[in-house]
Amino acid sequence: ENEMKFDATEPGRNQFSYGGADAVTGAASRNGQAVRGHTLAWHKQVAAWVSQDGVKNNNNYSRRELLDILKNHIFNVVGRYKGSVREWDVCNEVLDDDQSIVRTNPDAYTLRPSIWATHIGEEFIDSAFVWAHQADPEAKLYINDYNVEFAGNAKTEAYYNLVKRLQKSGVPIDGCGLQCHLTTGQLDTLKLEKNIRRYADMDLDCIITELDIALANPHAADALTLQAKEYGAVTRVFLRNDNCPSMLMWGISDNHSWRQNKPLLFDSDLQPKPAYYNVHAQMRLAAERAGQSGIEDIRGDETIVSTRYIDLYGRPTTQNGLVIEVNTYSDGSVKAVKKVY
Ligand code: G3I
Repeated sequence: ENEMKFDATEPGRNQFSYGGADAVTGAASRNGQAVRGHTLAWHKQVAAWVSQDGVKNNNNYSRRELLDILKNHIFNVVGRYKGSVREWDVCNEVLDDDQSIVRTNPDAYTLRPSIWATHIGEEFIDSAFVWAHQADPEAKLYINDYNVEFAGNAKTEAYYNLVKRLQKSGVPIDGCGLQCHLTTGQLDTLKLEKNIRRYADMDLDCIITELDIALANPHAADALTLQAKEYGAVTRVFLRNDNCPSMLMWGISDNHSWRQNKPLLFDSDLQPKPAYYNVHAQMRLAAERAGQSGIEDIRGDETIVSTRYIDLYGRPTTQNGLVIEVNTYSDGSVKAVKKVY
């Protein structure tokens, strides 16, 4: 959650500190897991030498200096993890909470005040993406925000407008992230899917980056069942939309969440909850369906030269039960399919 943020990676000007981030990427590489980098330009957890509160320019940097600070940060951090971070949240939470502007101007959006937006201007976003792309041309680059999940909501529409503007300006953006910090009772899968699909029409990803679903009524008898249903419903939306290739939970066990009211898949004793089993069941069902109908990508004359099996945690496993089969083809490409043996 916190090891790749600005204050963790550059606590002093041009003094980089990679202990925590290296631990994350090291563990991932030992276990065959992919890593999302979070995050490069945000108004929170900015190092105090940049801004005391993430907004004030209390060190009186010039605009040029702030651009240099952001550029140097991005080149160093993204450069260090080139090849080991698959995707980056380049800019996080740049939108203001009040987006009533879209009611009068349907193409508009309002940025939140921040050390970057207020003292550089909106182009800090464009530049951040360009620098991240230069530092690692292979990494997928995302913008990320909260309260932007359901089509029709003012902030969701403002987000769409901003992403459209970035794409039109030629910014190297692969898509946008929906944080999905939800509470039971809020989920509207139709509006969620409508939102995700319109990015497909623009050839952009729209992914789920920080999913957690807190219990609205933690003492209700069916609280965990309702939570499990909603986790399952989000998982199905994820599985059936090709432009939604990632779904991440914001934490593992309830006692280590930033939120109250048991939002995660494992309880405080690290025991799987009903929500865990439903997410797992949806994945299994999708794998079985893919296996039964024999859906395979149409490939040319390429042949499989090697095959390995990993489990849903990315750990090597054997050809047994629900596994991910990873095939390497003669053209060097790699394709993974979920299968049940
Ligand atoms: O590490 C210090 C510790 O040394 C100190 O004793 C303690 C006392 O407060 O604080 C610890 O730092 C805390 C840090 O989490 C690590 O636990 C911070 O106070 C606390 O503010 C920080 O909260 C994080 C929050 O971002 C800060 O903005 C949460 O863990 C993290 O889950 C949360 O994540 C954000 C995403 O980045 C963006 N989207 C929303 C999401 C939830 O707020």
